[in-house]
Order: sequence, then structure tokens, then C-alpha cells
Amino acid sequence: MHVDLTAEALIDIGPVIPVIQIRDPEQAPGLARALVAGGIRVLEITLRTPAALDAITAAAASCPEAIVGAGTVLNATDAEEAARAGAQFAVSPGLTRELSQACADLGLPLLPGAVTATEIMTALDLGHRALKFFPAATSGGAAALAALASPLPQAVFCPTGGISPDNARDYLALSNVRCVGGSWLTPAEAIEKEDWTRITQLAQAAVALGRPG
Ligand code: 3PG
Repeated sequence: MHVDLTAEALIDIGPVIPVIQIRDPEQAPGLARALVAGGIRVLEITLRTPAALDAITAAAASCPEAIVGAGTVLNATDAEEAARAGAQFAVSPGLTRELSQACADLGLPLLPGAVTATEIMTALDLGHRALKFFPAATSGGAAALAALASPLPQAVFCPTGGISPDNARDYLALSNVRCVGGSWLTPAEAIEKEDWTRITQLAQAAVALGRPG
């Protein structure tokens, strides 16, 4: 689906963004369709495998209902390659000025990572209000995010890293959390076996986690 998105709008679409690692681009269409069938439209395919860019192209082309983006975008080159592959947004574990500028030049919405007050203030200064809180569990988890809401309420987050169906609601209940991200919806062995039924079930269960009111 081609839409004019902002990073803020992106993290408001659903309660969970799957963080996907894919080894075979031929599995991308089936995977994207399985997630969409389960009610998940925003898909983050990480640039952690040689197949990632081709998988982004294949998922976007074959599943127009999906909003397909690139994860693990570390620099301007990654951002350019992701945009060329058809990514509609970029996610990064951190933030550099170069990456921020490259995504602005490309018109590619960026969800950059920030966990400390200084990192969040730097991101806000660069115009990024929607942020990834990564690695969430080892950076203080929901308690840290709740504490940051007090001085920095204008920053809104998609925490990722160590999130599971067991703790997702702790994050989703926070005033400054719009959604969570995680790899649990797309287990490697399910992708390998093309067990799309299982992935649709995991997506349905993730959607049922709900969103903050
Ligand atoms: C990410 O890039 O956001 C994380 O690798 C996802 O973390 P998880 O595997 O703990 O869900």
C-alpha cells in the first residue's frame, strides 16, 4: 500500500510491528500475506540478511495491503538501498545526523532508536518525535519508559528487544508507547517451513494485545 506516512502515523497503525529476518526472498510474499491475514499491516524487514532488499521488493509487490519498511538501517547507503527496493519507512537501532538527513532527502519516514534522555533530546532536535526504544528490556524496560514520559512527554515510542506476548501489555499501557516491535511473530523455523497458518495465528494473537486507549 502506498501512503503518505509519517513515523508518528506508522507507529499508531497497530499494536505490534513484526521485526522480520528473511533468508529467502521467495518466502517474502507468503510471509507478508500471512501477517496481513492476521491483521498486521506494518512489516519491518531487517537488513540483516543478504536477501533483505529483495524480500522488501517481493513483499511490497505481492502484498499491496502491507506497509513494508526496512529495519537495521544504519547509514545513508542503507537508506538509499532500502528506498530503491521499495521500502516505505526505515527503522534504525540508533540515530546519526547523516542517517536523519539521508532519510529526509529520500522522503523516507525514519523511526530511529533512542533510550537515554540525551539521545531522545538529540532525536527531538533533529525532528524525530517517534522513536524506537531499543534494546528495551535491557535499557530499563517499561519502568524506564514510564520515567522518561515525565520530562519528555513529546517523544512517543515503539519499544523493541526482549518484548513478548507476556510483557507487551506492560509497554502498551504507557502514555508514551504507541506500539511494540518484536521478532516473536515470525519465528525462523516457521518461515523456513512456510508455516503461514502459524504466522497468521501469531499475528492475530499480537493484534489482540490491543493498543493504548
Ligand atoms: C530489533 O531489532 O528490534 C530486535 O532485534 C527485536 O528484538 P527481539 O528479537 O527481542 O524481539
